Amino acid sequence: MKIDVYATQNSVIEKEWKDRLVVIIDVLRATSTIITALDNGCKEVIPVTEIEEAVNISRSIDPEGFLLGGERNAVKIDGFHLSNSPLEYTREVVEGRTVVITTTNGTKAIKKAGDAREVLIGGFLNASAVGDHVACKDMDVTIICAGTGGKFSLDDIITAGAIIDGIMQKAVSPVELDDLALVCKFLYDSHKDHVLDALKDTYHYRVLEKAGFYEDIRFCFQKDRMATVPVYKDGVIKHLVE
Ligand code: MLT
Repeated sequence: MKIDVYATQNSVIEKEWKDRLVVIIDVLRATSTIITALDNGCKEVIPVTEIEEAVNISRSIDPEGFLLGGERNAVKIDGFHLSNSPLEYTREVVEGRTVVITTTNGTKAIKKAGDAREVLIGGFLNASAVGDHVACKDMDVTIICAGTGGKFSLDDIITAGAIIDGIMQKAVSPVELDDLALVCKFLYDSHKDHVLDALKDTYHYRVLEKAGFYEDIRFCFQKDRMATVPVYKDGVIKHLVE
């Protein structure tokens, strides 16, 4: 089994992953929020790239049955029910509802991978659950880190390392890592006991901390708090059905 990693969604070369299993990571915070929403019983998440698109889609859903969520520049979008903070996506709020979400980087990366054989949504919260599923499939996998504003984001890279570690622990055939996958694994192994400390000077961490979202950062880096593995198919993210 081969594992390749893209450091940003902009560097993705489509033909290289079309027939593979793809894992999308935007640990701060889009994929962590999506995992949390589904773990708390949300019916489905519809990721979109533009605010207008989110509003238009929501018009076709029963007003009681949907929530508009997301951010621009880390803050809630005017007129939306929820921001991109996973802490807002509690069971009381999301259970049984459809969440239509748009974020600056994360939802774009998810949409980009739409044509892959299977697309999973990964984070620190579900790293081992995603690793188990990938190992079980025994298929070549491409991990796409969303990055921030087109740039490499260390938080996503360390999370990729956590997922690679999970895959390697359960893999049934030899695992071949590309160079970036090796870097991810190395960084995760070196920092797994003090991840927040390792990230504290990184750009996205500092932006979120400054905007008052330190609790979100802490929440997103709880390893294996959830066993939910979200799958993106036909424009919608739902729980994995095996
Ligand atoms: C994004 O998609 O760019 C992020 O999730 C931004 C954020 O931290 O809300």
